[in-house]
Amino acid sequence: MAEFSLPQNSKITGKGQAYKAATGGKARNFRVYRYNPDSGENPRFDTFEIDTEACGPMVLDALIKMKSEQDSTLTFRRSCREGICGSCAMNINGKNGLACTTAIEDCGGKDITITPLPHMEVIKDLVPDFTHFYAQYNSISPWLQTKTPTPSGKERLQSPEDRAKLDGLYECILCACCSTSCPSYWWNSDKFLGPAILLQAYRWLADSRDEYTGERLDELEDPFRLYRCHTIMNCANACPKGLSPARAIAETKKMLVERSV
Ligand code: SF4
Ligand code: SF4
Ligand code: FES
Repeated sequence: MAEFSLPQNSKITGKGQAYKAATGGKARNFRVYRYNPDSGENPRFDTFEIDTEACGPMVLDALIKMKSEQDSTLTFRRSCREGICGSCAMNINGKNGLACTTAIEDCGGKDITITPLPHMEVIKDLVPDFTHFYAQYNSISPWLQTKTPTPSGKERLQSPEDRAKLDGLYECILCACCSTSCPSYWWNSDKFLGPAILLQAYRWLADSRDEYTGERLDELEDPFRLYRCHTIMNCANACPKGLSPARAIAETKKMLVERSV
């Protein structure tokens, strides 16, 4: 698996701290990226020794233990701890993933290194700034758009076959693991929508009930917004839900070709 580069404000020259485990057991070191813009200091790595026998099995369990027992200022996002909300996305040993579904046992190497998602501005420690990512999401109008009235004033129905076309798309939790592993997105995120948002855009193109397909394709037909994808496939490898944004992007390109012939 490719090692992804560090967050944008990552000149790591700060002197890190070391925290010892309170109990013996099976100790494991976690090197955790720390950055506090209010301190005026450069980022640093702190080392937390954790007794993994006195800790839950997931990387998120270890982070919660660090925060509750060793340094309460350690900052990270989490909510569901079930791989549903997408908020605990981070880079663990060089691979983007969800801290709540990544088992400590499955992390190779002696120490486990944790950094924020790559190439994002960092707000604090492991918390990246999603402002731009959400603005891009908003730009694709991620809701059902129709022109005709609802049949008989009732709900818009979909055949089981049409509903099945949304499989592999609706499961996306917008964690950004894919976009932040995409080299094209690293270098062109100001204009390129990136794999997560393009998968979401295709989710509405593929929906038989949506009546704005032409307008949606017009919005995407742009040298940067869509066509900066060079099929490098990092996105599919990074997705913790097993989705393939690259396939959704290819399907979108196919729709654009088909409507031009
Ligand atoms: S396939 Fe496209 S979107 Fe996915 S990582 Fe590669 S360039 Fe990025
Ligand atoms: S496609 Fe996968 S990696 Fe990308 S945002 Fe959705 S769930 Fe996360
Ligand atoms: S805490 Fe919700 S996905 Fe990890």
